Amino acid sequence: MLSRRFILTARPSVLRIPAHILRPTAAATVRFNTTFPQKNQAAESFTARKPVEVLIKNDHRSFEELYDRYKKNAGNAEEQQAIINELIREVAQHSIAEETVVYPLIEERNILGSGEHIADHLRQDHFEVKKLLLKLDKMRVGDKGFDETLNNVMRVLKEHATEEETKELPEIAKVIPEPERIDLSKAFLRRKAISPTHPHPHAPDKPPTLEVLAGLPVAPIDKLRDQTRKFAERRIPQE
Ligand SMILES: [Fe+2]
Ligand SMILES: [Fe+2]
Repeated sequence: MLSRRFILTARPSVLRIPAHILRPTAAATVRFNTTFPQKNQAAESFTARKPVEVLIKNDHRSFEELYDRYKKNAGNAEEQQAIINELIREVAQHSIAEETVVYPLIEERNILGSGEHIADHLRQDHFEVKKLLLKLDKMRVGDKGFDETLNNVMRVLKEHATEEETKELPEIAKVIPEPERIDLSKAFLRRKAISPTHPHPHAPDKPPTLEVLAGLPVAPIDKLRDQTRKFAERRIPQE
């Protein structure tokens, strides 16, 4: 496993997205050493060319593809565990990226005329997903109740993703110009790259407190835990 050093530098926005949404932390520069099994994620964060709703939908498709692959690999517990490890990591990082990049924007732009209410409701969904995901993270494939917990994760996740894709994301695409949504994509990928890789349902889910969690203290510990884990590949491109 390769050890990489990341230096992620935020640049000031020339558009209308507030700087605190585009920056990974309050500080302009974040440095940390960690092993990092996600291929080229840091590099991709600087080359995003698609608007943020495309990246979000691709993540949702990846969750579904991993779930399908888990079912197709019945009888191969090792491969199934690697698939679940990847699912847990992807959902954990996707959630924090949305909470720090997308949901504050829903509030600030008052999306659908009730931005604050909608963002709180979406955060509540994330809380339910994270609680179930944490339960799953403490189990192993084949444990009693494992499939039931996984099915519950996917059910709540699917309902939540469907709402985002049919309500909030189309509205964001309507009211925010594409260059700003591409800038949001870059911020979204940067966030994912530095976010914890395991669910932390009782951690703050609103900036600015979330900034602390999404940055330094928890993510390297999570990534250290990941060193002993095997991860299945992601087959749905991020962009
Ligand atoms: Fe979400
Ligand atoms: Fe989502």
